[in-house]
Amino acid sequence: MKVLVIGSGGREHAIIQKLKESPRVTEIFALPGNGGMRRDAVCIPGSAKDIPGIVAAAKAHAVDLVVVAPDDPLVLGAVDALHEAGFACFGPDRAAAAIEGSKVFSKNLMQKYGIPTAAYRVFESAADALAYLADAPVPIVVKADGLALGKGALVCMTREEAFRAIHSLMEERVFGESGSRVVIEEYLEGPEVSVLSFTDGNTIVPMISSMDHKRAGDGDTGLNTGGMGTVAPNPYYTPEIAKLCMDTIFLPTIRAMRAEGRPFKGCLYFGLMLTKSGPKVIEYNCRFGDPETQVVLPLLESDLFEIMLAVEQERLAECPVRFTDRHACCVVLASKGYPEAYQTGYPIGVDADFDARLYCAGVKADAEGALLSAGGRVLGVAATDKTLRGAVDRAYAQVSKVHFENAYCRRDIGARALCAVED
Ligand code: AMP
Ligand code: GLY
Repeated sequence: MKVLVIGSGGREHAIIQKLKESPRVTEIFALPGNGGMRRDAVCIPGSAKDIPGIVAAAKAHAVDLVVVAPDDPLVLGAVDALHEAGFACFGPDRAAAAIEGSKVFSKNLMQKYGIPTAAYRVFESAADALAYLADAPVPIVVKADGLALGKGALVCMTREEAFRAIHSLMEERVFGESGSRVVIEEYLEGPEVSVLSFTDGNTIVPMISSMDHKRAGDGDTGLNTGGMGTVAPNPYYTPEIAKLCMDTIFLPTIRAMRAEGRPFKGCLYFGLMLTKSGPKVIEYNCRFGDPETQVVLPLLESDLFEIMLAVEQERLAECPVRFTDRHACCVVLASKGYPEAYQTGYPIGVDADFDARLYCAGVKADAEGALLSAGGRVLGVAATDKTLRGAVDRAYAQVSKVHFENAYCRRDIGARALCAVED
C-alpha cells in the first residue's frame, strides 16, 4: 500500500516512522516533507495548503491512503477534495474540521451539548469587546475565532493586557481574518493534559495521554511556542479522570458532531484543564498535536496504517488499538531566538552512538545530502523507558549527541510530571 502524508514537521515525521513499521505499507510519500525525512519517505515539492496540488500528487503516485496532518489543509477542505477524487483519507472533512477552525463554533457546540468548558462571550466588534472588558474580572482569556498559527489564545493577567489583545486581534488584525470575531473566556486553572483520540464518528478510542511544554523557557517562562517538549503518559490523568472525560467530554463531543451533521473522522485532540470543578475543554484540535505525537506514537503497539484505514472505513470498533505501559519523553531542539527571530542554515551533526528517535522538523538537505537547520523548531529527540524518570534521562542523554550552531532546548521537560509522580 502507498501512503501520502501531507505536512512537513516533527509530527509528520513521527507519523511516517510509525506507518513504516506496518507490514502493509510499501511506500510513503510526504508533501512537502523535509530534507531530514528522506530516509523514510519520498518528498514531493509543494505546499500543504495547495489543495489541487495535493489531489494531483495523490493521482500521480496512485496512493492508497492520504493522511492530512496539519490544520490548514483540513480546514481548507483537503479531505473533501480528495474524497471527491476517489481517494481514501485519514482526517476530518471541512465541516468537521470547524471544531478547530472556528473557536466560536466549538464554544457554541460545547454550550449547546453541555460539554464542560470555560464560560465565554463572543464579540464581533472591538468596541463591544472593550466595553465588556471594562468591568470583566481578570485574569481573562482572549481568543481569535480562526486559525492563528497556534498563537491565537492570549491569557491576559491585567485589564490593560486584555485591551491590547483586542486591539491587536480585532483592529491591527495580526492574524488577519481570524480576528474578525473573538471569544473572551473565563480564566481556568489546573494541570493541562493533551488527549489525542482516534474516532470514526461513532467509536472513539483515546490514545495515551500526554503533557506539552508550551513556553520557550525553563520553569514555564518566556513566550508561547508550538511546544518545546512532551512526556507521556501524563501523571495527572488518572484512570478515574479518564473515565470522567470519556463520559462527560469525549463521547458527548462525537455525538454532538454527529447530531450537527458533521461526523468527525480522524484524530480528535482534546486540550483539557483539570480544574477543581472537574476536567474542562480548553481547546479542540482536528488533528494530531505537535509535539504530542512524538511521544504518543512511539508507545503505540498496534498497526497505525490499519487503524487509519479502519477510521476511514468506519470500523474502528473492530480494530485493535493497544499502547505499551512504557513512558516517553520528547525534547525539542530549537534555533536560538525561537519563537521570535532566529538564524538557520547550520550543519546538523549526530554522533554515531545516538540511540533514540530523531524527528526532523525544521531541517533541509543541501545538494550533497548533508542536513542543515531550517526552522524554529529543528528536531525532536524522543526516548522511551519503563519509567518516566528513565525516559527523561535517556532523552537528555541523546540530546547531547546532536549538534548544530545556535541550538537550544529546555532543560526541564518532564520536571513537573516527575514532581507529580515522585512526591
Ligand atoms: P490554545 O492556543 O487554545 O492551546 O491556548 C494556549 C494556552 O493558553 C493553553 O495551553 C493554556 O495554557 C492557555 N489557556 C487557553 N485557554 C485558557 C483558559 N480559559 N484559562 C487559562 N488558560 C488558558
Ligand atoms: N501541541 C499543541 C498543538 O499541536 O496544537
